[in-house]
Amino acid sequence: MARHFFAALVRNTISLIGTALAVATLTLFITLFVVQSLGLEGGAYLGIFTFILLPLLFVTGLILIPIGIHRENKRLAAHTGDGAHFPVFDLNSEKTRKGLIIFVALTLFNIVVLAAATFEAVEVMDSTPFCGTVCHTVMQPEYTAHQRSPHARVDCADCHIGPGAEWFVKAKISGSWQLVAVALNLYPTPIPTPIHNLRPARETCEQCHWPTNHVGDLLRVKSVYQPDEANSEYKTAVLLKVGGIAGREYSGIHWHVRQDVQINYLSDESREKIYELEMTAPDGTVTVYKGSEEAPEDANHRRAMDCVDCHNRPTHRYQLPGDGIDKAMSTGLIDKTLPFIKREGLRVLQTSYDSHEQARAQIQQDITDFYREQYPGIDDDKSAEINAAAAELGDIYSVNVFPAMKVDWGTYPDHSGHDGCFRCHGRLKTAEGKGIPRNCGFCHTVLAWEEQDPEILKTINP
Ligand code: HEC
Ligand code: HEC
Ligand code: HEC
Ligand code: HEC
Ligand code: HEC
Repeated sequence: MARHFFAALVRNTISLIGTALAVATLTLFITLFVVQSLGLEGGAYLGIFTFILLPLLFVTGLILIPIGIHRENKRLAAHTGDGAHFPVFDLNSEKTRKGLIIFVALTLFNIVVLAAATFEAVEVMDSTPFCGTVCHTVMQPEYTAHQRSPHARVDCADCHIGPGAEWFVKAKISGSWQLVAVALNLYPTPIPTPIHNLRPARETCEQCHWPTNHVGDLLRVKSVYQPDEANSEYKTAVLLKVGGIAGREYSGIHWHVRQDVQINYLSDESREKIYELEMTAPDGTVTVYKGSEEAPEDANHRRAMDCVDCHNRPTHRYQLPGDGIDKAMSTGLIDKTLPFIKREGLRVLQTSYDSHEQARAQIQQDITDFYREQYPGIDDDKSAEINAAAAELGDIYSVNVFPAMKVDWGTYPDHSGHDGCFRCHGRLKTAEGKGIPRNCGFCHTVLAWEEQDPEILKTINP
């Protein structure tokens, strides 16, 4: 029987090609699998090749084999005038039993190989390098921002898909369309935000975060530099009432995501303009708030508020030029003793460039020219600091602006600050005229606001 099988294989070209394909891809698959298990990191492309392309070819090979045998049998039958197209299985014959065992063993082996390949294929497609690098240009802004964020070690799929089969299938369906869109250059630039079919954040973020655990207040201190010659430094400090459960009280900023609070709102597509809102308080009372502007007839973006309504940039964070320079100056990446570096930095960052390479080169040129022309002495003494500052400005540009994707300063707004909160606070009112509060002490205590040497910081950190 086994001999018959092999004889049947070589007798027709289709089965022969199928066998060759299956054997070759299987050998290659096992080799690459072993090599990669031993720790060789081949990157996303090798992963796609090993775990997606090879298994597809392997299955194609396997399918070709019976097709070839069937066609051959049909041909033989026609030749001999014999009507029987299907082989007769007689389990009393030892030959048949042996053949059956070989067949079952081979099939089991194939199933194991395919299962391993499927598992790895899923891993590869969900890996951050796959999401971030396979579609280089398209995902470059998100990937770059992700690499620099507190979530750099969290995979794209952990937030975008989350656990369980349902969202996995949804993500793979939309992912397949995305691959087509990328291949045919059909994707929009910039990629629009918000993502309307993102899995509810409570099911993804809460795998790791528990809003009830953010108890108490969060101190935020930041330095702002003025565009004067001395780059005068001012400090701002706020104590944010982040909230959470303390004892049995649950209040503060994370009050919105209490299990017993429901906030549903109607907005435009961008979620920047909120028309009306329905809030169910812990005691069950329902309050409706409305903006001064009537919702247009076709407004249909309804949504239950969750983490992403404030933390829409937990990982794809982009700075504005001023914030980027301030941060770099306060951490010493840009030397704050260079005269006018804040003003000049703003000037070069707010210029438009065609590419990151052009931006870096032009910024280097502009900054060195400025000091050579305006500060001939400093130009020599501090040439290392000037070069470092120019390089850092080039970096700030390159991680926030992506000309190829039309992502510019501020293309993606951040809702975790005033602009986000004030979409509701201070804007929406009940029919009786009661508003959602906007007084300055409601969300935080402002300890110091752009002061040169705030007393309070000396007290906290003498
Ligand atoms: C910590 C969670 C998290 C991780 C990790 C994450 N994302 Fe996102 N991503 C989000 C959220 C939240 C949004 C914004 C959703 C919204 O506003 O509707 C978003 C938006 C996007 C967008 C739409 C454009 C935009 O900026 O709003 C793209 C594209 C994207 N992510 C790709 C990726 C890729 C690629 C990775 C991995 C390199 C990744 N994401 C990792 C949470 C995450
Ligand atoms: C797989 C685990 C994981 C998931 C899922 C996750 N995070 Fe995080 N998150 C982290 C880790 C780790 C940190 C970094 C903590 C640190 O550096 O102190 C972090 C930090 C944060 C911070 C503080 C950032 C800062 O500026 O210090 C916020 C806000 C946050 N996450 C929100 C979210 C939101 C919103 C989501 C869902 C869209 C989410 N996270 C999903 C693990 C996760
Ligand atoms: C009403 C807006 C809002 C909502 C909704 C919200 N947060 Fe926050 N959250 C904030 C603000 C504001 C801060 C403090 C400043 C910051 O980190 O941006 C914060 C801080 C955090 C931090 C950092 C805390 C720390 O101690 O550093 C984490 C983690 C976090 N939120 C997770 C979540 C998760 C998870 C959800 C959803 C279950 C959520 N938040 C819902 C506004 C919100
Ligand atoms: C989608 C609308 C909406 C957004 C956006 C929003 N809030 Fe609220 N917030 C509300 C509503 C509604 C209440 C309840 C007001 C009331 O009880 O009168 C509330 C209440 C609060 C409270 C009081 C909670 C308590 O202890 O009772 C704080 C603090 C707060 N918000 C802070 C913020 C901050 C900070 C942001 C931005 C990061 C923000 N909110 C964004 C709708 C919103
Ligand atoms: C609805 C809540 C809310 C209200 C009301 C509010 N703020 Fe804020 N404010 C925030 C949040 C959230 C942040 C933190 C933003 C961040 O971390 O980027 C903040 C930050 C600040 C900062 C720090 C500066 C900075 O750039 O980070 C100052 C100063 C400030 N607020 C002043 C005020 C003043 C003045 C008022 C009254 C007109 C006010 N805030 C009302 C939520 C609020």
